[in-house]
Amino acid sequence: MEFSKKRILIIGGSSGIGRGIAKCFLDLDAQVCITGTKESIKDYGLEDTVSLKSEYLQLDFLKPAALDELVLPFEILDVLICSQGTVQYKRKEFEMDVFREVLDVNLTSMMACCQKFKPLMTNIGANIMLLGSGASYKATKGNPAYSASKGGILTLVKTLAEAWAREGIRVNGIAPGLVATKLTEVTFKDKNRYASSLKNIPLARWGEPEDIGHAACFLASEKAGYITGQMITVDGGLGLS
Ligand SMILES: NC(=O)c1ccc[n+]([C@@H]2O[C@H](COP(=O)([O-])OP(=O)(O)OC[C@H]3O[C@@H](n4cnc5c(N)ncnc54)[C@H](OP(=O)(O)O)[C@@H]3O)[C@@H](O)[C@H]2O)c1
Repeated sequence: MEFSKKRILIIGGSSGIGRGIAKCFLDLDAQVCITGTKESIKDYGLEDTVSLKSEYLQLDFLKPAALDELVLPFEILDVLICSQGTVQYKRKEFEMDVFREVLDVNLTSMMACCQKFKPLMTNIGANIMLLGSGASYKATKGNPAYSASKGGILTLVKTLAEAWAREGIRVNGIAPGLVATKLTEVTFKDKNRYASSLKNIPLARWGEPEDIGHAACFLASEKAGYITGQMITVDGGLGLS
């Protein structure tokens, strides 16, 4: 796969899966810009390839007008990946203000990014990816907002794919299984919950951010040029039973 001179924007690339995706594109010589909520990439305290080689922009969807004011280092964008996401535990998502906030960060912000950056996606092969989840397909116990946002992403992918195909823009999604990130700390930091989660994964391990990154590179590449409107599951078989 060839990404040199390709410009990739990863919303939510500061951490977890987005960071793993950024690493995979950098390894293939792409120009990568990532966003995170903190002021500087140094605030994440990681001296890795992503910190050293990507451009960083601060973006917090809970701050009004933050996206409107965001200025990219590129005038043309080849690939947009939306990997932002949040979740609230202890049944907080049953409170309406929390429900709305999670929907804003997880779903509405993805539509807003697609609308804002689509005009820059004029190159042949331009494409978009949105991070869904196993929760795009089934109930998530105790998390109505997370689940509704991920269900929404599944049909947003299909609707935008249909709308923009004739303009040459493909739109796909990736639905990860369990990957150890800030979002899943409550599970993997608890010995018993972690052990019991492993029993449900046929490939017998949690995913690495790079597992998702490799799938993202494939979907972004010319090899996936006839794939649009699909949510690709990358979960070690977790969703099979
Ligand atoms: N981890 C899993 O097992 C798993 C499974 C299925 C789906 N997913 C999905 O994968 C995506 C990435 O999640 P992750 O697991 O990598 O979690 P993560 O490590 O917490 O990363 C989430 C990213 O979203 C950003 N973000 C959070 N709140 C934001 C806000 N208000 N405004 C702008 N950006 C915000 C974070 O910025 P900061 O770094 O500054 O906080 C970070 O870059 C999410 O859409 C998630 O739902 C994850």
